[in-house]
Amino acid sequence: MFLMLLACTPAPDSEKTPGGDDSKGVGDAPTWYQDVAPIVVENCTGCHNPSGPGFDLSSYERAAAMAGAMANATSAGRMPPWGAKEDENCAPTTPWKDDRRISEAQIATLAAWAEAGAPEGNPDAAAATNDPKTVGLEDYDLELGPVQPYFTQGDADELICFSIDPHATGWALLSGIEVVPGNRSIAHHALVFADPTGASAALAGADGWYDCGSGSGVNVPEARLLATWVPGSPPTRAPEGTAIPFEAGGRVLVQMHYHPGGKVGEEDETVVRVKLAEGIPTAALYQTLVGNFYNEATGLEPGPNDRRGAEFRIPANVKDHTETMTYVVPDGVQDLPLVSFGAHMHLAGVGLSVKLNKGSGDQCLLNVPAYDYDWQQLYDYNAGLDEVPTVSSGDVVTVQCTYDNTLDNPGVQRALDEYGYDEPQDIYLGEGTLDEMCLAMVGFVYQVR
Ligand code: HEC
Repeated sequence: MFLMLLACTPAPDSEKTPGGDDSKGVGDAPTWYQDVAPIVVENCTGCHNPSGPGFDLSSYERAAAMAGAMANATSAGRMPPWGAKEDENCAPTTPWKDDRRISEAQIATLAAWAEAGAPEGNPDAAAATNDPKTVGLEDYDLELGPVQPYFTQGDADELICFSIDPHATGWALLSGIEVVPGNRSIAHHALVFADPTGASAALAGADGWYDCGSGSGVNVPEARLLATWVPGSPPTRAPEGTAIPFEAGGRVLVQMHYHPGGKVGEEDETVVRVKLAEGIPTAALYQTLVGNFYNEATGLEPGPNDRRGAEFRIPANVKDHTETMTYVVPDGVQDLPLVSFGAHMHLAGVGLSVKLNKGSGDQCLLNVPAYDYDWQQLYDYNAGLDEVPTVSSGDVVTVQCTYDNTLDNPGVQRALDEYGYDEPQDIYLGEGTLDEMCLAMVGFVYQVR
């Protein structure tokens, strides 16, 4: 693979320079059956298959037709989708679980294959392929669905909250949560919350759902994030020996973001699968939100373009605008292991980093330098609880968000289109598509005995 990298690293759109001792003739360019299928089957077809969220890449014919697009998407780092990356600003030292990224050598092979015209190779001497990296819980104990299917109302975007009664007569301890979308053509992303007081039942009424779009939010006291879903994202899994607590009498609240694009009556019935913890867990996994949300600027630091004091305002037509939020870990916290992270902004957001300062400089916890609203997910550390970073009282967590509020940002274009504006607007804190947030989801483990 190392030789392959040396021989075939031209940037996808650079001119092919024939000759030179180590250049490969078309005769020995990578082929589907010998070189490319093993990469694509393992890393792409978990999503790119006839029933997956991505178009089918599981046969030579399908993949060959997309060879150029595959080379572009992989060399630009858009595919496989994976936002948690390292750069000079912030590079976490703990590895990620289910890291989907492929190697430079694999990217070079896809580029060389496309450049050579996607040769098929010899099916009779096909290289062995590994199974697609699986997404999904291996097994589950409960499947929770809404009281009835939902039919879209014909908006461009619909944010709907489903209140589901899991009949939790006592406390439950969960080890895995997976969102299974009903209708992939309209399901855009989902957030699953515990509603510990069951307050969502009254909001949802007999239909079992309520509108929780712009401004209103999920609107339930003490709602606690349990899981997130975007196409192809892995389920939430509690680390070994830990479990996700769920209160007796609580309800499961699923906030679905639909993209019906104006179509009325599109049907969806998304379900949540739950695996109960086995044995007696010794620790509880919680998700908390750090940063800026609802309508208050907690921990907002002064920054560029402020007009007076610290202000959350992203001026129109400004690129690389940053907002910075700090959170001081409260009293009574001692060495809590941090195990998972997520980034949340709206459509003007282009980068988010989370850093921890324990008194001796910054340590990077998460960096999403090319944030994409459509690909939000939780990233889990792949390390034991005694190896991950921990927080104690007085430590400072800093979330920094970067925004591009110009027409160069396709996200801004999309948000403006939705509201019918031609020009970028100043953006403030809030829940709407043309408002912004700067929020990190942080999963931590609390030792219970
Ligand atoms: C976690 C799921 C997932 C994985 C893994 C994945 N994709 Fe995708 N990919 C998608 C989805 C969803 C889309 C958008 C769906 C569509 O447009 O049909 C997409 C879109 C694309 C596109 C078109 C958009 C663009 O950005 O250029 C290409 C090309 C692509 N994928 C190639 C690949 C290749 C090659 C791999 C493996 C190396 C891969 N994908 C792995 C889910 C995935």
